[in-house]
Amino acid sequence: MLADTARNSAYARALEAKVKPGDVVLDIGCGAGLTAMLAARAGAKHVYTCEQQPLIAQAATQVIADNGLSDRITVIPKWSHDIVVGEDIPERADVVISEIVDTVLLGEGALATLTHAMAALAKPDARAIPEQGTLLAQPVESRQLLDLWRPQQAEGFDLSAFHRFARVAQLTPNDFEACGLRPLGPVTELFAFDFTRPDINPARSTTELACTAAGSIHAVLVSFEMDLAPGIQVANGLHSGGHWGRTAFLLDHPETAKAGDRLRVTAQHDAARLSLSVQDLLQAAEEPAAAALWMTRGWIAHRQLLGPGAAAPQAPVRPPSEAPNAHPLGQAFH
Ligand SMILES: C[S@@+](CC[C@H](N)C(=O)[O-])C[C@H]1O[C@@H](n2cnc3c(N)ncnc32)[C@H](O)[C@@H]1O
Repeated sequence: MLADTARNSAYARALEAKVKPGDVVLDIGCGAGLTAMLAARAGAKHVYTCEQQPLIAQAATQVIADNGLSDRITVIPKWSHDIVVGEDIPERADVVISEIVDTVLLGEGALATLTHAMAALAKPDARAIPEQGTLLAQPVESRQLLDLWRPQQAEGFDLSAFHRFARVAQLTPNDFEACGLRPLGPVTELFAFDFTRPDINPARSTTELACTAAGSIHAVLVSFEMDLAPGIQVANGLHSGGHWGRTAFLLDHPETAKAGDRLRVTAQHDAARLSLSVQDLLQAAEEPAAAALWMTRGWIAHRQLLGPGAAAPQAPVRPPSEAPNAHPLGQAFH
């Protein structure tokens, strides 16, 4: 994480953009102290940074001293939920910073933590970094992903009955690189979260993911985009790089898709978890079926022109009952 220069630079720029001289900043999750020190450098009057892990809080206190910032930053070795205004911090914060998201934003409890912090530890019009986050999904093809996550056999034994436990692939950046995921369609938004006014309500949505290329859909890749400040974003999409891993929801059986098809998925989340299930593949109208429909209309028009008893025209026009792959709409003309 600390070696992710794109992430570090995005936080530095967002803090420069959003911290004003005289601001009191609350940094939730001190880690090594980097975001707290960036906030001090951006001009905060004082930074209060909390860290639930005592050994990490101790090391961060040392890092902050080594950088000559002990008089501008106070490390509070506590969960943010246990901070009391008037005891641990003298007043509510003007700016709340955090970087407590996992590969699908929710797994480290960001929604509950920020819901509490924005309501109980921040001024009513406080700014937040990040300010919003979006979860996105797209269909992907990757035989390597299946081989990695659902090996058919090990040392000659058939393992396929165990695959029901391998529905959600958590990929490290290295796994992700090795699997060479091929996108079969663009990203589609599943959920958006406002981190300045978060809530912990669960939500559920059914969404159709567009396919723009032909291939085997092996999985649905879920990624995020997080806006730290206007125009400053961090993300873990297909081409984003960075230290965040990726989460892919594997299909029980790969679907063969073509351009124009749509994969219908239902996603739901609570305060800390995301789940996603694949409903079905909605097929784009087949060319032969479309042609059959057009020809059927032509045939009916022809019959109406000639009157009852007129012979059907010569091939290639055929009534839809005889047309190969007749589209159900075609039947309605009978
Ligand atoms: C991903 S690190 C980020 C560290 C630092 N802010 C940065 O961006 O470099 C998150 C840290 O937040 C701490 N943490 C997560 N939720 C917390 C909470 N609600 N209160 C205090 N510490 C928390 C974890 O223990 C971890 O050390």
